[in-house]
Amino acid sequence: MNAAVPTTVERIGEHVGQTVQLQGWLYNRRSSGKLEFLIVRDGTGFLQVVASQSELDPEVYERCRAVTQESAVRLLGTVRADRRAPGGYELALTDLKVVSAAEDYPIALKEHGVEFLLDHRHLWLRTPRQHAIMRVRAEVTRACRDFLDDAGFLLVDTPILTPAACEGTTTLFQTRYFETSAYLSQSGQLYNEAAAMAFGRVYCFGPTFRAEKSRTRRHLMEFWMVEPEAAYVDFEGILALQEAMVSYVVGRVLERRRPELERLERDTRLLEKVSPPFPRVSYDEAVRLLEGVEPLAWGEDFGTPHEVAVAARFERPVFVHRFPAAIKAFYMQPDPARPEVVLGADLLAPEGYGEIIGGGERIDDYELLRQRLAEHQLPEAAFKWYLDLRRYGSVPHSGFGLGLERVVAWICGLEHVREAIPFPRLLNRIYP
Ligand code: 4AD
Ligand code: MG
Repeated sequence: MNAAVPTTVERIGEHVGQTVQLQGWLYNRRSSGKLEFLIVRDGTGFLQVVASQSELDPEVYERCRAVTQESAVRLLGTVRADRRAPGGYELALTDLKVVSAAEDYPIALKEHGVEFLLDHRHLWLRTPRQHAIMRVRAEVTRACRDFLDDAGFLLVDTPILTPAACEGTTTLFQTRYFETSAYLSQSGQLYNEAAAMAFGRVYCFGPTFRAEKSRTRRHLMEFWMVEPEAAYVDFEGILALQEAMVSYVVGRVLERRRPELERLERDTRLLEKVSPPFPRVSYDEAVRLLEGVEPLAWGEDFGTPHEVAVAARFERPVFVHRFPAAIKAFYMQPDPARPEVVLGADLLAPEGYGEIIGGGERIDDYELLRQRLAEHQLPEAAFKWYLDLRRYGSVPHSGFGLGLERVVAWICGLEHVREAIPFPRLLNRIYP
């Protein structure tokens, strides 16, 4: 197998008329008279390979007929441009070697139940649909980083093992930490605030953990969050940053991951409309809008039906802002004009995808923060360092957290966030 150029399915179009070498796995096969159509995947894409009995050594042709689904294979062949082939190219096979034969592959190419697929997530990932989703996910990650890097935000990693809660004590995962205990991070925000006072504009991007006893289409126990935090940025400033970042991310996926969105059969009409400014609805206005639709008493938190009903009124993502302080996290800055509500906002995605971002301005006053910690029954000792940030050069500052899987689910048009992460951790599942 020398002489031939080694390449990948993704770059196959650069080699029309040449003999190339590919290595991958057999995804599927179909016979038609004296032809075998092999669909081969190599991690970069899926390619139709044609094995013709009349042109092949009988031994090679026999191997093509016998090779089983998901066997590892090395191939040689000539690249042909063919409009009828999926992707526009196909390989006329000249040789095939089986690197490792697969037997009784459990995922047949037919409809399977979701629990079965989740049990076989390690293999389910090999399908074109999952490939498309993971490529969109990687693009979203990269777009977030490019956007923030270009806007002067410094990537500062925050810890995963932490001594205290950020987002309420009811959803903490606790673990032993030698003689004491620790919690898995719910959010990097508190550390981001320290980093922002050190470096101005920062972000973290990592896994976060919530022991949420909710079995919904939007909740994972482990999910990834990108969290920018900026000193000297107020509430308006942070909303503007969210609009710009979400619009940039959606634009990047539309620009670079069209084939994947097509494979997912995503109707992109509403995605094309994502550009600033996003509509804004105050919590008070939302309560009025929801009257007779999905009633919400002032002071109650939004549930999924409320989010969906508010978002349904708009074609673009919508900010719901100034929630009652009592239902939001301890660190949120009260609105000076109306201290019973906070300068915090949730960004709700269209098409029923619900909250994709939570954020706002943080309390920068030492005494007020101490008071809020006490009201939330949080141990002051564990937050001493966080209070310090209000003692040494405190400034107005704001930030937000964008949930990666929720954004990927929205952009891809997925039914459930479980497909937006390679190995989902769900209420009833930590396998595989
Ligand atoms: O609204 P949340 O709880 O905000 C925070 O954690 C802030 N400390 C972030 C910050 O200001 N730096 O979570 C932020 C986002 C949500 O809008 C949602 O997109 C996602 O994280 N998220 C989840 N995604 C999947 N599964 C869960 N259980 C999630 N919980 C939150
Ligand atoms: Mg939230």
